[in-house]
Amino acid sequence: MQAQFRYDVLIIGGGAAGLTLALKLADQIKVAIVSKKALTEGSTLYAQGGISVVMDPEDSIDNHINDTVKAGAGLCDATAVRYAVEQSRTLVQWLIDQGVGFTKEPAANGETRYHLTREGGHSQRRVIHSADATGYAVETTLAAQVLAHPNIAVFERHIAVDLVTGRKLGHSTNACLGAYVLDRERGQVITMAARFTVLATGGASKVYLYTTNPDTSTGDGIAMAWRAQCRVANMEFNQFHPTCLYHPNIKSFLITEAVRGEGGKLLLPDGSRFMDRFDPQAELAPRDIVARAIDHEMKRLGIPCVYLDISHKPADFVISHFPTIYQQCLELGIDITKQAIPVVPAAHYTCGGVMTDLHGETDVPHLYAIGETSFTGMHGANRMASNSLLECMAFAQAAATDIMNKLPTTHLVNTLPAWDESRVTDSDEEVVVSHNWEELRRFMWDYVGIVRTNKRLQRAKHRVDLLAREIEEYYGNFRVTNDLLELRNLVVVAGLIVESALRRRESRGLHYTLDYPTLDSGGTPHNTVLTPPLFQNANELIHAGA
Ligand code: FAD
Ligand code: SIN
Repeated sequence: MQAQFRYDVLIIGGGAAGLTLALKLADQIKVAIVSKKALTEGSTLYAQGGISVVMDPEDSIDNHINDTVKAGAGLCDATAVRYAVEQSRTLVQWLIDQGVGFTKEPAANGETRYHLTREGGHSQRRVIHSADATGYAVETTLAAQVLAHPNIAVFERHIAVDLVTGRKLGHSTNACLGAYVLDRERGQVITMAARFTVLATGGASKVYLYTTNPDTSTGDGIAMAWRAQCRVANMEFNQFHPTCLYHPNIKSFLITEAVRGEGGKLLLPDGSRFMDRFDPQAELAPRDIVARAIDHEMKRLGIPCVYLDISHKPADFVISHFPTIYQQCLELGIDITKQAIPVVPAAHYTCGGVMTDLHGETDVPHLYAIGETSFTGMHGANRMASNSLLECMAFAQAAATDIMNKLPTTHLVNTLPAWDESRVTDSDEEVVVSHNWEELRRFMWDYVGIVRTNKRLQRAKHRVDLLAREIEEYYGNFRVTNDLLELRNLVVVAGLIVESALRRRESRGLHYTLDYPTLDSGGTPHNTVLTPPLFQNANELIHAGA
């Protein structure tokens, strides 16, 4: 007998966005969170630099807005930016009240105040942080509150397979009714009905071979929303972080932008600086410019990495500001108080995502998307550093308010159809999944990376189409597993990225193509909005075998 669960709100994802929303709702209603690994595993846990917040008396809301809009290269939604920036002080205070310990420094009057660091694109010191492990402090503090809350049910190691919508069930309206969720331990798909379902599944940077992100960032929310008939926007704007540690023994370790904010210099192997040749702000230029400059120098000189050097600062300053990075590098034989750190750019953040309104609601009624999986318009063509955690919390708050307003008029369905496994068997060739994972991520890196061309994008499109057909056939024949579900989602996301990149005939923000190397200054700047094709038949997406 297949398990059926019913909740007021089902939140898919336990990062900053999902946990904030759960805590904002749970004193009033019953909430479930599903998380495909441990509750805390996701990008939030690894965030280093901090959270943008206007706290310095020299700073202002308008300064923060202006910097965000400037980094966003003409595509930021002014209302979304203002909403999030105006919330920043209250949200940070909420985190402090939950117990997040931000780094302090001595103040003039003998007291202490919160230390604000600086990152690329910010004209002021504006980033509150917990040394260089801000995400760890936020995630573990909120997760502890969630786990202790009597109204929140937590399903760890459960991966959402697909959303259940009215349309998929043949209803005349397409509201979201819940989701199918694979219990990874038992290998069983359970059904979760909810009045409201919220995608808080994080980004999609695992679509690239090299990334700063953990393995959870496979774009599941974007793919599920697309299959449920939501529009998706600006998927061509993939942010590549300029400084990921380059070392054969480590995968995905970020060297925070705050290292440059506190005086770190980027160097070529001969010890010379190069960033001032690319931008007057040198090392503190926005990320897209720094990442492209590094990529350019690596290709020009045929070198595998560049170097980031903070060793000119006193050792105790470096160790106290960057204890996690110091320790991690030391374990690999690099003493950052004496040596420069080898770094390369890597995929870091998905600026595009599921289109939402300013309450986080998507095109499908009762379905919300918050955090990195969403597209609120806040980041435009390039996200400014430390604005993501802010967006996660600001739109979680907005969604909580909207859900509570709509709750009295939104009903919970009694039962949803059970997941149908009657026409599938266990896979006989898991190698298909691992091979396709590798192939997809490699060609996305090679053809849809920091510098693009029409020819490279067409090559990628051809391969995405082939893989998508093969994966969909495989999905139709075999029982679902975590890896298969992630691969199925990644190929959808890859297709959306390539299609969006092909449609943008200019270089703007994070999207740079040699075929259109300049900004299209003629027309009005536009978002790239993709609309899903309508289903062929009602039951098509309920299960593999259907
Ligand atoms: P995540 O924190 O990624 O959480 C996603 C959750 O969804 C996870 O629990 C995951 O398991 C779950 N999930 C995904 N798919 C499914 C599924 N199908 N079923 C069930 N569960 C699922 N931003 C800043 O503002 N400041 C920083 O200093 C900063 N530093 C960063 C450093 C690193 C190394 C990285 C990778 C990112 C950094 N960012 C930073 C970006 C920021 O951390 C992320 O954008 C943000 O944490 C995303 O939060 P989220 O809640 O949307 O998703
Ligand atoms: C960093 O610390 O460099 C990452 C900050 C961010 O992605 O916002």
